Amino acid sequence: MSAATFDFTGSVVLVTGGGTGIGLAITRAFLDAGATVAITGRRRERLESALEGVPEERAAALPADVSDPEQVRQLVADVVARFGRLDVVVSNAAGYARGELTDLADDAWEQMRATNVDAFFHLAKAALPRLAESGGNLVAVSSVSGLRGDWGQAGYNATKAAVTNFVRSLALDWGPRVRLNAVAPAFTFTELNQDAPRDEASLAPHVDRVPLGRIAEPEDVAPPVLFLASEGARYVTGAVLAVDGGTSASTGQAHV
Ligand SMILES: NC(=O)c1ccc[n+]([C@@H]2O[C@H](COP(=O)([O-])OP(=O)(O)OC[C@H]3O[C@@H](n4cnc5c(N)ncnc54)[C@H](OP(=O)(O)O)[C@@H]3O)[C@@H](O)[C@H]2O)c1
Repeated sequence: MSAATFDFTGSVVLVTGGGTGIGLAITRAFLDAGATVAITGRRRERLESALEGVPEERAAALPADVSDPEQVRQLVADVVARFGRLDVVVSNAAGYARGELTDLADDAWEQMRATNVDAFFHLAKAALPRLAESGGNLVAVSSVSGLRGDWGQAGYNATKAAVTNFVRSLALDWGPRVRLNAVAPAFTFTELNQDAPRDEASLAPHVDRVPLGRIAEPEDVAPPVLFLASEGARYVTGAVLAVDGGTSASTGQAHV
């Protein structure tokens, strides 16, 4: 499926963390589908290189730290001031800190919670009234880690579970004005896990849990996001769509 399957001509889309990884694939897919796209992240150069060659009336690199409520409010205001409307918000930016709870430093937890949970709260609070004006929608990039537990990353899983249930509950409160949905990817090759070994032997236990037999690329996650944001999903809200190669279809018992 290509982005050409969807037509977002005339729509204004905000993608947090839109300069790298899954967010970058989402940014490119929305641009290919005709949208005007604003992206944010802390590193200006990653945002600018993501939008290289895109006419400035169709794209904006707006650096911000989404863990800062004031910067989030300003970001949403800037997008509306620049493009006149806001149709889709993709809440994708996140941090990842691995480690058992007793090894997770307090400041690492604070930072991860502020980026993954508090940022969602402030972004949704600022954007939902704008999305209600345009009949728009929000798609969160959550994770299979927000559905159940994983070894050695309880803090991260708790933050992703918070996002998943924000989406479900807000879908109740904001229907029929705004749809809210989430995607739940599993292991996807990005900067987030760049320190994890990528040789075949190290990846084998991961691949073994994926019925579709491979680790995801960011481009696997973007089309389901566009679907949820599109008119084709007009009767879909509060959904959490696993984009995990079938990982979460398993009970978790051994693959024998
Ligand atoms: N990769 C996986 O295996 C996987 C699996 C399931 C779900 N996910 C989810 O997918 C989403 C994207 O992650 P990714 O894998 O594509 O990793 P990534 O490339 O590291 O993307 C994270 C993005 O978030 C931005 N970001 C982080 N902290 C920020 C802050 N305080 N303010 C503004 N922007 C911030 C980063 O930009 P700056 O650093 O420039 O700020 C970066 O663009 C995340 O929600 C993640 O939880 C990933």
